[in-house]
Order: sequence, then structure tokens, then C-alpha cells
Amino acid sequence: MEFLAFFIPLAIFLSSAIVNGDGLSIGYYRHACPRAEEIVSKTVENAIKGNPGVAAALIRMHFHDCFVRGCDGSILIDSTTGNSAEKDSPANNPSLSGFDIIDSAKSRIEAECPGVVSCADIVAFAARDSAQQAGGLYWAVEGGRRDGRVSRASDIPGNLPPPSFDVNQLTQLFASKQLSQDEMVTLSGAHSIGVSHCSSFTADRMYNFSGRGVQDPSMDPRYALQLKAKCPASSSSSSVVVPLDPLSPTNLDVKYYVDLQVKRGLLKSDQTLMTNDATSRLVKINAKYPTIWRKNFGRAMVKMGAIDVLTGSQGEIRKQCRVPN
Ligand code: HEM
Ligand SMILES: *[C@@H]1O[C@H](CO)[C@@H](O)[C@H](O)[C@H]1NC(C)=O
Repeated sequence: MEFLAFFIPLAIFLSSAIVNGDGLSIGYYRHACPRAEEIVSKTVENAIKGNPGVAAALIRMHFHDCFVRGCDGSILIDSTTGNSAEKDSPANNPSLSGFDIIDSAKSRIEAECPGVVSCADIVAFAARDSAQQAGGLYWAVEGGRRDGRVSRASDIPGNLPPPSFDVNQLTQLFASKQLSQDEMVTLSGAHSIGVSHCSSFTADRMYNFSGRGVQDPSMDPRYALQLKAKCPASSSSSSVVVPLDPLSPTNLDVKYYVDLQVKRGLLKSDQTLMTNDATSRLVKINAKYPTIWRKNFGRAMVKMGAIDVLTGSQGEIRKQCRVPN
């Protein structure tokens, strides 16, 4: 009896450890490819020097990878004649960029240790390095993710939140990825850098709030006026972009939460965080205590980075990030 009492929980613990993605660990490539993380960070650092917008792109890439089929590098796979891949969904094309940077890190790594480092891990490292460059944030990233072989644009609906979502819809979707409402608010702070195309918010916020052909009353009218000037109703399909965080568009900081408090959240999915007691309280705390947000952001990114990962002998190590082996 004692024997069973000990081993049954142990067996449950071990099997759940695998399901939960505990095959991941810090310093995963320490022996097999000791310079892997350094190569990624150098590549990312150089790319950001040339174009600061890269930091936002790479953080968003990790999010979009992890929420669709888990963090398996599926976001990187190119479409083929028979298959429209995730990256060609309207949620990603043309707004998601940075694929060339992942390619260049991968080819440098392959030159040193072929067939060892997954594309999914490179994306996770690159997101962390981007946060470090854009905001001085740092967290230890686990490695050990393996690459998936499947990428379908049709997987996007239901897995990535559209900008029209309200706080309850966001909370539900994040819960379906085992992320709490608090973590949802924390991760939304990524919108403290980067840009949005006019088409992602003009209908909801400027011209057709609630389908009534009016402006969203929860937006500061002066901010709305500036946005309307940049995003006229007639050209919503254009390539014009505006900063997600008008206060400090290129620094990964808590200014995003300050924006929300003065009705200057850009997307409906941003400003909606002020409509719920629990989420608006967190917005206030984050705006006031940057150190708390920074710590929680790193933690939440690590948790996001473990969603439905492939480990051990699952999946593969892709040779090229754009094509399954
Ligand atoms: C809470 C639900 C979220 C929604 C509805 C959402 C939606 C969006 C939309 C519509 C854009 C602009 C796309 C465009 O039109 O160009 C955007 C940009 C961005 N998102 Fe989110 N997002 C969410 C959460 C997140 C999370 C969790 C992260 C990362 C941890 C993230 C990181 C970013 C970044 C960095 C950008 C700027 C990209 C760039 O400048 O290239 N977002 N998001
Ligand atoms: C505004 O939204 C409503 C309801 O979704 C829709 O029927 C209408 O066509 C929209 N108007 C414009 C100008 O897009």
C-alpha cells in the first residue's frame, strides 16, 4: 500500500509534467549549441539598431506563434500552393513582420550547430531580446520547444483575439490558453510599443462604434481627432500605421496603462480593460508601479512561451524555419 501511495502520485506528477510542457528548461542549448542564445541576441540587437520597429514585431510574433497550435514555430511556415499558412491570415498579413530576422539568426546557428536549435525557440529568445532592447526587461527563457509541421490560416479565428474583443471575450480566450485575466492585462502591456494599421481600429473607434456610425465615446475626443486626420474614413485599407502607445511609442514601459487611464487606448481591446473593476484596478497598479509590471510581464511571457509546446521526440528541428523538413 505504501508503495502505491508513493508511486501513483509520482506517476501522475511525471505524466502531467510532460503535458504541461515541463520538457522545457533554462539553458537548454548549453551543451549542444552554447552560443545559440547569444547569436539570437546579437542578430536581434543589430536588426533593432537598423529599425526600432523590429522589437515590437518580434514580441508580437511570439504571441501569435504560441496562441495558434502552441509555440511550435508554425507562424514561420510559408504558404504553399495547396495551403494558406498562418502568416497569410489577415491577422498577420501584412501587419506581422520580422521573419527575415528569424531566418538570419537560424542560418547563423545552423552554421555552428546544424539540426539542434528549433525555430520555435529562436522566436522565444528573440522576443525576450526585443523586450530587453526596447525596455531593459530581462527574463530567463526556457528552451526545448520543437517545431511543428503544420500551419493553417484557418486556425487563426478562435485562437487569436481580434481587436474588436471586449474584456469578457479577451478573458475567455486567454483562459482557453491557461492564462489568467491578470496575465491578459499584463501581456497587453506589450502594446506599449509598435504600431497598428488604421483598419484595425477605425470602424470600432472612429467611424462606426457599435455599428451606429459614430465615434467611440470612451475615447478622448482630441486623440480621436488626431487619429481621424491620419486615418480618414475613405482609406481604411491603406498601409498607414499609428503608434499603439502615443505617449512613448518605442519604449516598452507602463505608459500604455497611463494612456488607458486618459482614454487614449488605441484598440477597442485596449480601452476595454478600463470597463471592468478587476482589470481597471490592474491597469492603475501597473501604471503606478513599473517594477511590478516588469516582473509580471517576464513571468507571463514565460508562461505564454510554454503553451502547448512540442517537446522530446514530438515535432522536429526544422532546417529552414519557413519549410517543414
Ligand atoms: C489582448 C489581446 C490582443 C489583441 C486584440 C491584439 C491586437 C493587436 C492588433 C490589432 C495590432 C495591430 C496590428 C496592425 O493592424 O498592424 C497589434 C499589434 C501588436 N501587438 Fe497585439 N493584441 C493583443 C495582445 C497582444 C499580446 C499578448 C502581445 C505580446 C505579448 C501583443 C503584442 C503586440 C505588438 C508588440 C504589436 C505591435 C506590432 C508592430 O508594431 O509590428 N499583443 N495587436
Ligand atoms: C457599421 O456597422 C453596421 C453594423 O455592423 C453595418 O451594418 C454598417 O454597414 C457599418 N457602416 C459602415 C459605414 O461601415
